Amino acid sequence: MPKIKVALVGVGNCASALVQGVYHYRDIEKETDVVGLRRLFLGGYHPRDVEFVSAFDIEARKVGKDLSEAVFSPPNNTLKFADVPRLNVPVLKGPALDGVGELLKNVVTIDGSPDVDVAQKLRENDAEIVVNLLPSGATKASGWYAEEALKAGCAFVNATPAFIASDAAWAKRFEKAGLPIVGDDLTDQVGATILHKVLLKTLSDRGVRVSETYQLDVGGGTESLDTLERTREVKRIVKTKSVETALPYKASVVAGSTDYVDFLGNRRDSYFWIQGLYFGGVPMQLDLRLNSVDAPNAGSVMFDVIRAVKVALDRGIAGSLLSVSAYAFKRPPQAMSLEKAEEMFEGFIRGKVER
Ligand SMILES: NC(=O)c1ccc[n+]([C@@H]2O[C@H](COP(=O)([O-])OP(=O)(O)OC[C@H]3O[C@@H](n4cnc5c(N)ncnc54)[C@H](O)[C@@H]3O)[C@@H](O)[C@H]2O)c1
Repeated sequence: MPKIKVALVGVGNCASALVQGVYHYRDIEKETDVVGLRRLFLGGYHPRDVEFVSAFDIEARKVGKDLSEAVFSPPNNTLKFADVPRLNVPVLKGPALDGVGELLKNVVTIDGSPDVDVAQKLRENDAEIVVNLLPSGATKASGWYAEEALKAGCAFVNATPAFIASDAAWAKRFEKAGLPIVGDDLTDQVGATILHKVLLKTLSDRGVRVSETYQLDVGGGTESLDTLERTREVKRIVKTKSVETALPYKASVVAGSTDYVDFLGNRRDSYFWIQGLYFGGVPMQLDLRLNSVDAPNAGSVMFDVIRAVKVALDRGIAGSLLSVSAYAFKRPPQAMSLEKAEEMFEGFIRGKVER
């Protein structure tokens, strides 16, 4: 298979998991041998077909380093689960814009070197897909990188909650340029949102009338710190709306990140509470905690997304990829049930035309 040439915007924890993933799965040949990846092959592509050709950041301890070193440089604090060989991809300095919020200033040092011409670097390195992994509060910077992707003729994957793929105006511009766009706000493999939806759907399918439910998170990565300051509200809206789609009736639903606890590192504790009535109107409650490491939780879904976007590029499909966004993101342009999103995504991979 040809390589999938990816540019990373933001070499944080999530980027670290992604880069490590290529090397962790590189030598696995059989679907039955794979642990932790939903699909070893997608559209014929294996994770090892992903090649990182450019990387942009602003952190003084990452800029100028090879990507293989930068992914393990502080303040990144996620798990190391694979050795990454030298990649000969230097991390380049992009513009800071709104990348560093007030709280992040305590842990992030902005590099003093001049900004590179991002679109030119993307073109020079033949990047095909720009993956946006900026902090969730970096709304302006996310939009700025979407512009650079357009200028350079790259598809755009928005893992952040900035409203880009779900904005019809952006989708139209990418469509006009003949480029795919997907987003917004990636859904984790076993994250709180997906688990919450599955729990609610199972209870509702089995006749339980859920009346109230909340899901709250505590984490210790830089992303949790940024969320605390800048995106708590938006994340709560996105997550709540996404979770509400799991119930066929109205209930009181609250879902969203809550707090930062530094000693958790990249670990995340997700708390779920559900109350409802079952047979005879008898009350039930469910109280649950999920403990996970944040960044690897994005890996499996992200590899599906990158390969699906490459499939779209191969087939000349442009604009908003509704099935990919609904399958892999919390705020897709078109929200739908889990089953419908899965069905549409499978259909897309098999070659079904969406629109
Ligand atoms: N499980 C997951 O990790 C997961 C799931 C869903 C969504 N996301 C989203 O992915 C994004 C990345 O998450 P993360 O945990 O890797 O965050 P992170 O804080 O570890 O990484 C962000 C990186 O962006 C860099 N950065 C900041 N401003 C920049 C700028 N202007 N230009 C270039 N680089 C800049 C930072 O220095 C840092 O390296 C977040 O928006 C998050 O909401 C992550």
